[in-house]
Amino acid sequence: MMMRTRLALAMGLFAFAAFGVRTNFDLDWEFALKDFNLSFGKVGLCRPQNNANDNGIPRVAADTNGWEKVDLPHDWALRLPLAEKGSRNGFRAVGRGFPENSIGWYRKRFGIPASADGSRIFLQFDGVYRDAMFWVNGIYLGRNDSGYIGRRFEITDLLKYGAEDNLVTVRVDAGKDEGWWYDGAGINRHVWLDVRPADGLVPDSVRISLKELKDGQATMHVDYATFTEGAAAYDFTVANPCLWSPDDPHLYTLELKGESFAYGIRTVVFDPERGLLVNGRRVPVNGVCCHQDHAGVGTAVPDGVVDYRIRRLKAMGVNAYRTSHNPPSPELLDACDRYGILVMDEQRFFSASDEGLDQLRRLVLRDRNHPSVIAWSFGNEEHNVQGGDLGRRMAKRMKALQRELDPTRPCTFGGNNGQTFKGVNEIVDVRGVNYVRLMGEGAAKKMCHGTDDYHADHPNQPIWGSEEASTLLTRGGEGQLGQRHVMPDTDLPENRPMCWALTAEEWTSFLDGRDWFAGAFAWTGFDYRGECHWPATICNFGILDLCGYAKSNFHYYRARWTDEDVLHVYPNWNQPRTNLWINTNCDEVELFVNGRSLGRQKRGAKSFRLNVPVVYEPGMVEAKGRRGGREVAFRMATTGTAVALKLVPDRVRLVADGRDATVVDVIALDAAGNEVPDACGPVQFAFAGAGRIAGVGNGDPMSHEEDVCKDGEWTRRLFNGRCQVVVKANREPGTFRLKAWLSPIQMYEATLEVK
Ligand code: GAL
Repeated sequence: MMMRTRLALAMGLFAFAAFGVRTNFDLDWEFALKDFNLSFGKVGLCRPQNNANDNGIPRVAADTNGWEKVDLPHDWALRLPLAEKGSRNGFRAVGRGFPENSIGWYRKRFGIPASADGSRIFLQFDGVYRDAMFWVNGIYLGRNDSGYIGRRFEITDLLKYGAEDNLVTVRVDAGKDEGWWYDGAGINRHVWLDVRPADGLVPDSVRISLKELKDGQATMHVDYATFTEGAAAYDFTVANPCLWSPDDPHLYTLELKGESFAYGIRTVVFDPERGLLVNGRRVPVNGVCCHQDHAGVGTAVPDGVVDYRIRRLKAMGVNAYRTSHNPPSPELLDACDRYGILVMDEQRFFSASDEGLDQLRRLVLRDRNHPSVIAWSFGNEEHNVQGGDLGRRMAKRMKALQRELDPTRPCTFGGNNGQTFKGVNEIVDVRGVNYVRLMGEGAAKKMCHGTDDYHADHPNQPIWGSEEASTLLTRGGEGQLGQRHVMPDTDLPENRPMCWALTAEEWTSFLDGRDWFAGAFAWTGFDYRGECHWPATICNFGILDLCGYAKSNFHYYRARWTDEDVLHVYPNWNQPRTNLWINTNCDEVELFVNGRSLGRQKRGAKSFRLNVPVVYEPGMVEAKGRRGGREVAFRMATTGTAVALKLVPDRVRLVADGRDATVVDVIALDAAGNEVPDACGPVQFAFAGAGRIAGVGNGDPMSHEEDVCKDGEWTRRLFNGRCQVVVKANREPGTFRLKAWLSPIQMYEATLEVK
């Protein structure tokens, strides 16, 4: 333990010289999964001493029992065992029913140079799950109830300047659920140390908005405040602005008082007749709802993996993301800014209480300069209040606050209260419909046509599908219909047990011709932990699995939503079948089995899926499509068993900052080099060099394997041909080698450069 303390102090010194506005504060924390009796009796951090009566922070500081060195973001829930009674949290033994695993402490020692005296210094926590209490040098800063929106504390007068042994301590209590999905546990987003000049900008005071766009010129308005002079504002112009849009997400940078702010120039209008207009042009919302967790890392998703996830969605033609049902990480919004994804930015806590409004304030102040954010969502499916007077009053109060902080965007809400124009629906600018099947009564309901009646009755209220789809598919699944977590990977009406669900084909077709309906967000982009039935631990509503691997519907949406040539035949040809499905945007497709044509099919103008009856015969399936005169081809063989692995890193260059990360896809191949779609054997991993494995996953909803290192070994079974490794860079540059064994004698390798 002495060694560890010395190391922590040395790292504090190392960081000493590097402070500027926003220094990352993720590295070199310590974590202990236990509680201390709290005492607020004495202020401040005395010398660490073994005074049995002193139960306060000195005790936490001096304790040597059970602390481990961790870097943030960190999710301790993923390291806990699975437990059948832990249904909420992906069956991890945390939260309600597991008090012994639900309270953890973090601490970090750090240096503050004497030269920083006179600055204004803040600690910013981007997200802690949840009920967190914070201290600096034993002085209580306050708390953050929310597991999703962060909190900033000014610590200027709480620091020891010119000393290396400043101490931040955080108590985290994950004992209460916020979601009905996997919330994780711990400091699962970044922490920043802000050191600002005494006359610098007040954090979050900067608001950059478009004042006028006319005659090839944008006039921008900037509001800001400094510590010394208070609020101020000015205008500036951009000639021939390059507008931000999903197709061309152009970003500008504003430099102000030594800080940089990214912004985009765009107009966004929700038109009750024409839907969503971005820069005056109709853009149908081709959206997905997503929770935040990923394979291998839980809710502690590194920025590199956030970036990967957004690119996977973009590849499918997604142009909109609903951060269901909570504020996202700031880096998620940065990625949406970069890739041109429109965001419905959601508050977790629908409430006009002081706490609810404070959470909303922090959300809007934090996110209002992101061009990607196009609407504030006040909440989701609050059955008890959404349709009544309480809901109306609270939404009204929330809207007033939102307008004060950001008058440029509309508000919305994910409502599943049908055609009612009462409560929240009366107040929100854009009516959010969770599931068109829940609109209307009787036959109208069945046909989803209640939405038409709502629009006819409220023609001036723009409307969008805040949630749709909810179909359950398992990647590569061959399971039985009705068995939720091993569903076949084919999106059929029989494959959606929820009474509100619609297949991809059903809901996207429903929107055809209804331009007043601005589009919708499919539930969900990715599979996520939780909201499932044991023995499953992952919920399979995703269009992509928990690793980001495509299910068949990925190709359906891609055919509909992108301009690329799409021709994808499924399921695999490794076992007898009587039908093959084709997701395509080709004008016509001809299918061949072992060279024999099964005939040619034309695609209907609004249909993106074909079905071909087949007589099974092992060998080669080929599809030849024509699209606008171009030939498009697809081949799929009956494969042999897996004898090799292909390791495909998402990025081969990482930054040597101890935080950069990427995913490496692990794909099973047969002797002929074909991907083996049903390979399920175990893979063993080892690594060497300038990085480490952060976690492993395979997307199997039923898997009970560990995502983290178990007994010193990294292993994971392939699930339908694939598994995935999340790799993190070390702080020293060099080469990183990931090795994978399919069996002890067959070894495969990927090399990454860490700079
Ligand atoms: C919705 C809810 C989502 C998810 C989904 C499953 O009603 O908003 O969080 O539970 O149902 O279909």
